[in-house]
Amino acid sequence: MWVELFSVFLFCYKKVTESSLILVTFADSKGLNACFYFVNLSNSPLNILLAIESSCDETSAAVCRDGEILSNIVSSQLQHSEYGGVVPELASRLHQQQIVAVVQAALKEAAVSQKELDAIAFTRGPGLLGALLVGTCFAKAYALGLDIPLIDVNHMQAHVLANFLSEEKPSFPFLCLTVSGGHTQLVHVRDYLDMEVIGQTIDDAAGEAFDKGAKIMGLGYPGGPVVDRLAKEGDPTAFAFPTPHVDRYAFSFSGLKTSLLYLLKRGLKKDPEFIEKHKADICASYQYQIVTILLEKMRLAAKDLGVEHLAIAGGVSANSELRRRFKELCLAKGWKAHIPAFAYCTDNAAMIAIAAHHKLQAGQFASLTATPFTRVGKE
Ligand code: KG4
Ligand code: ZN
Repeated sequence: MWVELFSVFLFCYKKVTESSLILVTFADSKGLNACFYFVNLSNSPLNILLAIESSCDETSAAVCRDGEILSNIVSSQLQHSEYGGVVPELASRLHQQQIVAVVQAALKEAAVSQKELDAIAFTRGPGLLGALLVGTCFAKAYALGLDIPLIDVNHMQAHVLANFLSEEKPSFPFLCLTVSGGHTQLVHVRDYLDMEVIGQTIDDAAGEAFDKGAKIMGLGYPGGPVVDRLAKEGDPTAFAFPTPHVDRYAFSFSGLKTSLLYLLKRGLKKDPEFIEKHKADICASYQYQIVTILLEKMRLAAKDLGVEHLAIAGGVSANSELRRRFKELCLAKGWKAHIPAFAYCTDNAAMIAIAAHHKLQAGQFASLTATPFTRVGKE
């Protein structure tokens, strides 16, 4: 009896946190009976996840308990800036260097031990193949070593779900504009794991438009934050940029980039100091047009779908002009605006954790044979 009791106790031990209480009662009528009462003081299902993000140039790990983020460590690979963009091979090597320390830091900050983990989540794609392989292999080895399940997460879905890390959460169905370095998508979100991409870019992503524009002007990498900062001092009406004519929910940014190139060429012909003298105005005008294109498509889609909640997500949602005008648009139309906190806009593992939390609830796990995918639609 005691051996059985002890083994049941051991089995249950893993599921119990400091906030729970166990009562064991014995009744001695026809032999010994044992009753277990779990009094969960925190009212939570007690799932603790470790999530890993390594799709591009951020090595990140987060720990989450029942959907609440306990830690989110992000190590940004600043080494790429000297090359003017992310160098895939270098990114893979830097992930290899950083991943153990980043995971250890995430566990430490969360005050969670490896033994308490219930599952390991990882970004499966889209992203850079070598970079994704580092996180995928690490997650598999960790899950295998601890004998716990593995959960694969779609990076773009995770960006959308970053909106659930805020106090005020969107109500389903809602429309999300996901704008990152590699993607620009209008997503109709029906549930945590039920999303449909209804529109996307036919060429460059919005983040790419920022990065390439900054590169042409010699402002460094990543360009988005630099353009955002310089634009604050400039006049958004100083220069005119074209509006692309593409399908209803489609985006296009390559024409904008070409137009910037010609503007600079013309200006530099007349004055070699053109960029230096006008960079604030150029950034403000260029940024103004990117935001105008994004919000116009969003407005159209929201009207067609009849949604009441709108959200933005991804690295470009950190842009101050987009955040400001998105809120203005929603206010004017009576829509509820949702924007992730800055830390959850650019790549981070907290968003992978929240997505994995919902996959865990739905019982969706990955197999140990899962391989990364690099592009949307290739999963
Ligand atoms: O989501 P993210 O961190 O990585 C990808 O999944 O691609 O997005 C990175 C992109 C880069 O293009 C970067 O320039 C852009 O987000 N970004 C910004 C700002 N902060 C980051 N773009 C405009 N304004 C910003 N403040
Ligand atoms: Zn991203």
